[in-house]
Amino acid sequence: MDVLERYESLVDDFDAFRAACDRPLPSVVRVNTLKTTVERARAALDEADIAHEPVGWHDGLFALPDDQPGTNWPYVLGWIHGQEEVSAVPAAVLDPQPGERVWDACAAPGSKTTQLAALMDDTGLLVATDNNLGRISALRSNAERAGATNVAVTHEDARNHSLKPFRAPDSDGGREGAPYDRALVDVPCSCEGTIRKNPDALDDWELDHVEGISGVQKGVLRRAIQTTREGGTVVYSTCTFAPEENEAVLDHALSEEPCELVEFDLPLESTPGVTEWQGDSFDGSVEKAKRIYPHHNDTGGFFCAKLEVTAQ
Ligand SMILES: C[S@@+](CC[C@H](N)C(=O)[O-])C[C@H]1O[C@@H](n2cnc3c(N)ncnc32)[C@H](O)[C@@H]1O
Repeated sequence: MDVLERYESLVDDFDAFRAACDRPLPSVVRVNTLKTTVERARAALDEADIAHEPVGWHDGLFALPDDQPGTNWPYVLGWIHGQEEVSAVPAAVLDPQPGERVWDACAAPGSKTTQLAALMDDTGLLVATDNNLGRISALRSNAERAGATNVAVTHEDARNHSLKPFRAPDSDGGREGAPYDRALVDVPCSCEGTIRKNPDALDDWELDHVEGISGVQKGVLRRAIQTTREGGTVVYSTCTFAPEENEAVLDHALSEEPCELVEFDLPLESTPGVTEWQGDSFDGSVEKAKRIYPHHNDTGGFFCAKLEVTAQ
């Protein structure tokens, strides 16, 4: 089955979209400001003779046209972290502040966890959850290499995330048992948008899997809203194009939990969330979400939405 053809009605220039999906993705690294500065990291890349170009929209992101992250000494020192350009979007949109309590619900292998820790200046509490023990090892080692000490890792199903160890004594968000100021919900998905990095990504694509995984996505997003204080922020992201895993999940959260979608600025070209898909229609506010297509910014495909938790 030609999976991408499914999205012909959603994408503005389908030929350009397809052509971009066939092109390999440039390697990108993010400077880890817990260990160094952007200037020092840049000097280290120069010294190691590694070609690098700044990615304009985000300070401290560099494309490495001829190199792979992980094969150079600035990486070994934890000064840089290999991270796809679009993967840097959700933590930037969540915008956690130093001293806050933040939940990273599907955290391994930790690209966004380490980015969140840096944005929080390694203060406050960052709970990083994953249900896959093997991937948790990578999460731990990435957090350690990045020098992030505000991270508490939990191994559990995020849909049943336990607050027992993390309840804030003075939680005053107006919602019992909602200790977090912000939550990142970067869910497991069908990964259609990673095709440039992983050309086999669509080989085993099945509609059953898309529909099945959307149940997990709905459960994790609901738990994130339940555990975030009133007025707090939840960011939902996937690296897939399927509306079943994107707008349909948001629509479900809007109908089941106290929350609303909010607008956000993103200095990348994007298109709004879709309100109709194969006979289903979604709450009109899902248009506030952003779809990032590979041909628009020469990136992977991505989806990102920002929610605010409201009164019950
Ligand atoms: C898209 S990846 C997360 C990538 C990660 N945020 C990063 O930036 O490095 C999704 C993760 O969700 C985890 N996962 C899948 N189902 C889960 C569940 N029910 N509860 C918690 N984590 C889950 C997977 O093991 C996987 O590591």
